[in-house]
Amino acid sequence: MRLSIPSANLIVALALPLLLIVISVANMAGAASIFDRDAPECKVLSDKSPELRLKLSLFCKYDKSVRPVISKSTPINVTVGLSPKFMEFDSDKNQFILHSWMLISWKDEHLGWDPDDYDGIDSLRIESDDLWLPDISVFNSGDLSVSQSTLLRAMCKLSYTGLVVCVPALKFVALCSTDYADWPYDLQNCFILMGSWTQTGAEVNFNFRRKSINMSSFQESKLWLVTNYTSRKVTPKLKNDSFPFLSFQFEIQRHSGIIQAVHISPLIVLAILTLTLLWLDSRSTERLVLAAVTFICHLLCLYNLHWLIPSNGLTPPHVLLFYRDSMIITTFAIVLTTLLRKLQSTRGIPAPIWIESSVSFVANNPAGRWLLLEDWPPGNSKVTSSDDDREPIEAMPMKIDNWRRLALIIDWLALFALTFTYLLLFLSRIPRVEYKKSIL
Ligand SMILES: *[C@@H]1O[C@H](CO)[C@@H](O)[C@H](O)[C@H]1NC(C)=O
Ligand SMILES: *[C@@H]1O[C@H](CO)[C@@H](O)[C@H](O)[C@H]1NC(C)=O
Ligand SMILES: *[C@@H]1O[C@H](CO)[C@@H](O)[C@H](O)[C@H]1NC(C)=O
Ligand SMILES: *[C@@H]1O[C@H](CO)[C@@H](O)[C@H](O)[C@H]1NC(C)=O
Repeated sequence: MRLSIPSANLIVALALPLLLIVISVANMAGAASIFDRDAPECKVLSDKSPELRLKLSLFCKYDKSVRPVISKSTPINVTVGLSPKFMEFDSDKNQFILHSWMLISWKDEHLGWDPDDYDGIDSLRIESDDLWLPDISVFNSGDLSVSQSTLLRAMCKLSYTGLVVCVPALKFVALCSTDYADWPYDLQNCFILMGSWTQTGAEVNFNFRRKSINMSSFQESKLWLVTNYTSRKVTPKLKNDSFPFLSFQFEIQRHSGIIQAVHISPLIVLAILTLTLLWLDSRSTERLVLAAVTFICHLLCLYNLHWLIPSNGLTPPHVLLFYRDSMIITTFAIVLTTLLRKLQSTRGIPAPIWIESSVSFVANNPAGRWLLLEDWPPGNSKVTSSDDDREPIEAMPMKIDNWRRLALIIDWLALFALTFTYLLLFLSRIPRVEYKKSIL
């Protein structure tokens, strides 16, 4: 048994090379038989199909990295037009997103033919990857993960004159400088700037189509209204080279109807409520309750609005400031009410002389009398407070009368002052409403 294992190994060691030789010889014999067989010829269709013949002849040694002009000094005129389909606006990222078809065409002097030589074929559909393409890119792209070099990937139409027309469907993401000061009536102006990444105006020259922006198939957004659009060609010069680029500008306005109903109308109602509570008798509990409720409403609206408004504008929206100021006014009204209640609860303490004299000065004034003393005709020494269930104040009618009169005067002054303040606020803080029409 001990000897048999090495002898078996020996047999395997001898047999393996032999087996390999046999297999390789068999393979060579097989290969020889394949060569021997009659190989079927490639189907030669180019004689029968003029389109294939044309394509073979056009793209034989065509180099798509070479600018397709015969003379080096000729610029390639690239015409560009947009046919926007729909748009989005991302307030948080300041992005204007336009989904659009781009109509772009140029003349490829290396690709031209005579239709008579090819059975009258006058145009071909070619994949853009097989053609020279202008390296057009969006300069103010808001999403650099989108490769700018594959922007034009689409099927293109090539006609016998060498004219190439491509219509890629694109999503332009443009960064927009936003301003929310007039929210929700804000207008935003957004640009899409595009041009060649590397080539100068002497090599590739961009121009607009006859109608640079064709909005006829644009679908209106439910949130934004396109109020204006323009296009412009800019040709900045750097040393001796020009770098022409195209600028498409869109002016959009927020549809503000719902926001106005939900967030602007409460503002006006709260302002009126704050003024109304100054009219109530400062001794009444209702006034304090109303003031507290108004204050809480302000707070709720302010917080709610803060979440709704895009918070990345550098200028805070006027609406927010209005709410803030109105809340401060309401706080002032609460403080004033508390003070006046305190003032009128000082029964029995005689008013200082200067208060007495100034109050009686106002009370003797016809206008002052009209405001103050409807229920206190002068000369009536028996004064009762306006609430009937209160005890008649007879012990010290003159002095209590003076505190009450003082409170009334202060109330009136506060009402006038706050009305005036609100007026100023409305003038300065209410956002500019400029309703524009859609120009589609
Ligand atoms: C491009 O347009 C300019 C004039 O705008 C013209 O001189 C030039 O020949 C055009 N180039 C081509 C390739 O058509
Ligand atoms: C604008 O586009 C529509 C279809 O989308 C087309 O019928 C119309 O001819 C285009 N207008 C121009 C001036 O190119
Ligand atoms: C659109 O914008 C252009 C350029 O800013 C301006 O000249 C034109 O009057 C505007 N049109 C409308 C309807 O606002
Ligand atoms: C610009 O062009 C002028 C004349 O064509 C030439 O003298 C000058 O050297 C050029 N400048 C540069 C920076 O190429």
